Amino acid sequence: MAIPTMYWENGTLYLLDQTLLPGRSEYVACRGYRDVIRAIRTMKVRGAPAIGVAAAYGLALAAREAAQVPDPWDRLRAAAEELKNARPTAVNLAWAVDRLMEKAAVRGAQGVDVAALLLEEARTLQAEDEAANRRLGAYGRDLLPHGARVITHCNAGALATAGYGTALGVIRAAREAGNPLRVYATETRPLLQGARLTCWELMQEDIPVTLITDSTAGFLMARGMADLVLVGADRIAANGDVANKIGTYALAVLAREHGLPFYVAAPVSTVDLATPSGAEIPIEERAPEEVTHVAGTRTAPEGVGVWNPAFDVTPARLVTAIVTDRGVVRPPYGETLPRVAGPREAPP
Ligand code: MRU
Repeated sequence: MAIPTMYWENGTLYLLDQTLLPGRSEYVACRGYRDVIRAIRTMKVRGAPAIGVAAAYGLALAAREAAQVPDPWDRLRAAAEELKNARPTAVNLAWAVDRLMEKAAVRGAQGVDVAALLLEEARTLQAEDEAANRRLGAYGRDLLPHGARVITHCNAGALATAGYGTALGVIRAAREAGNPLRVYATETRPLLQGARLTCWELMQEDIPVTLITDSTAGFLMARGMADLVLVGADRIAANGDVANKIGTYALAVLAREHGLPFYVAAPVSTVDLATPSGAEIPIEERAPEEVTHVAGTRTAPEGVGVWNPAFDVTPARLVTAIVTDRGVVRPPYGETLPRVAGPREAPP
């Protein structure tokens, strides 16, 4: 994709404002770590790996601010906690912040300039994420039959990552290998990441995409019009349960009913071996206005009660395979996931 999700220039992080897409491509400038937190909370930047990388840059901004106060480490640690709490479900956020904080602690004790170190680490994380997605795409592309008709949900593309994408990375890799596949993108209520972002992203590269409402997926499968479901993930528990955008679970149940494979694509930074099962994954609940309004216009009666979980959990038994940047993992996930997601990388 030609337009980057984020870039760093002259001490400022620029985030592509995904709330404005597809109408406008504008960047929001983050000059302090609280700007990054605001952008994550309001989903100007969204998608598990992308918020991890944005938070890493946010920590670099926080270190620059902390250097001005008498107790820089206390300030940096507090900022790290704030960044980690910006959104609770995607583990990539906490993973990225923890990884940088560990490096800062080790290298900072050696007298290294922490703000410069964290900026360098954020850049490394960004490059690593795109490289991981390209590897993941290469591992996953052969799962898609020639001419496959693929249902995807939300946006697990370049926009949701540092580049290339996870579920859309597999689709890109298959297309690059000459597979004339086609995509069905669900709208993904309430914020329409499928309609607004996935369709936009795929159309930029002439990958054939058809938009369906979320509630059309079952009928599409019943008509024999789809071959598989392929989605991203925000957190994968040690037993293979998958948290992803609300509506993913319903697609997995439908896929099972119709005998279709249900694939999840995610880098190992999304695998959380410290969380035993989906029951322990914190599920973010967001503002009622996201449901009562569409594009700022009220569509539900004033005062109606709303439940708006942003994610759901798909049990491992419904997941055919998980495509990671270290290979394709199949059940029993309790045994196979630790082999690829092993102990976290230790800081130097
Ligand atoms: O609420 P969002 O838009 O951040 O949710 C994003 C998703 O659920 C994606 O599918 C997931 O983060 C995978 S991104 C590669």
